[in-house]
Amino acid sequence: MSSDEGMQRVFSGIQPDGELHLGNYLGAVRHWVGLQESYRCFFCIVDLHAMTLPWDPAALSETTLKTGALLLACGVDPARSILFVQSEVGEHPELAWVLSCVARMGELRRMVQFKEKSKGETESVGVGLFTYPVLQAADVLLYRAHAVPVGEDQRQHIELMRDLAVRFNSTFGDTFTVPQPLISPAGARIMSLDEPTQKMSKSSPRPGSKILLVDSPDTILKKVRSAVTDSGREVAAGDDKPALTNLLTIFSVVDGTDVPAVERRFAGSGYGAFKTALAEALIERLAPIRNRYGDLLADPAETRRLLSAGAARAAEVAGPTMDEVRARTGLVPRRSSGAAGVP
Ligand code: AMP
Ligand code: TRP
Repeated sequence: MSSDEGMQRVFSGIQPDGELHLGNYLGAVRHWVGLQESYRCFFCIVDLHAMTLPWDPAALSETTLKTGALLLACGVDPARSILFVQSEVGEHPELAWVLSCVARMGELRRMVQFKEKSKGETESVGVGLFTYPVLQAADVLLYRAHAVPVGEDQRQHIELMRDLAVRFNSTFGDTFTVPQPLISPAGARIMSLDEPTQKMSKSSPRPGSKILLVDSPDTILKKVRSAVTDSGREVAAGDDKPALTNLLTIFSVVDGTDVPAVERRFAGSGYGAFKTALAEALIERLAPIRNRYGDLLADPAETRRLLSAGAARAAEVAGPTMDEVRARTGLVPRRSSGAAGVP
């Protein structure tokens, strides 16, 4: 028995559908790194989810590996956590199928992310976009995770996976842990630098909208300097100042203080001085990540090896859960499993 057997489990996932940006780091990955101290963590690069909108095969395989390297560079520690690629563990789509027979059309139709991503074209988008949250439920339930650290945008998907876990348990017998969302308010929603009413997003085609974790110090300085600001002169947050509120939020999270403290510090300074200080703070925070990422990219085979080793460890947990699901739902045992049936 390993020493972390009694620890609570955390599961989270990230799509390899573009380059990781500051919003991903401040809203998600930074928390993952901290959670490793006290939880048994499973962190998954969800490549199957990245197929729910049209994708380019060469880009998908490249970003999957790059996302792995970036997560390692951010401090996800493969000695403590299980970091892996979703499609390497066949139990994810297998459980997703079973859960899709438990989920209801009506509850999936209510998912806001589906409505947003299908942009009203609900007849012509892929079926996978519709069943996306069912695969996400399978991701978490396979590991019987207690907590799921995500940004605010994922709350509805966690609610759905809880409903599916409860329904499955009451129909087929107690199998799944009902997971809780873990949503940290600070940095939960970092906005675009050029359009501060929109979320900073991997899918935005405008380079000036986001700071990438791999941006050079020069690029960071340029992007911060050209970030839009609000009318007025004061470095102050407010409902009518979305741009300044966003920049102040970023500064406060990076600096580990709160927004009023940052406002006091820059009271009387112009936007220029504030932006230079913000760029410097970001450059300092991101430099170690960028350096480690550079080292990892120099030897991609090592990142591949770490991810495959992670997948083997993940399968050791996912396999027995799936054996139990098969037994409880009346499916025959898997060819290779030594499963004895319902415990
Ligand atoms: P995504 O980029 O949508 O695959 O999201 C990966 C993780 O980063 C999720 O936990 C999101 O909630 C979080 N995230 C994405 N964009 C932002 C943002 N602009 N601000 C804060 N968190 C974000
Ligand atoms: N849907 C999540 C997002 O867009 C990514 C994801 C897939 C995920 N599976 C997950 C997050 C399981 C948490 C747990 O951010």
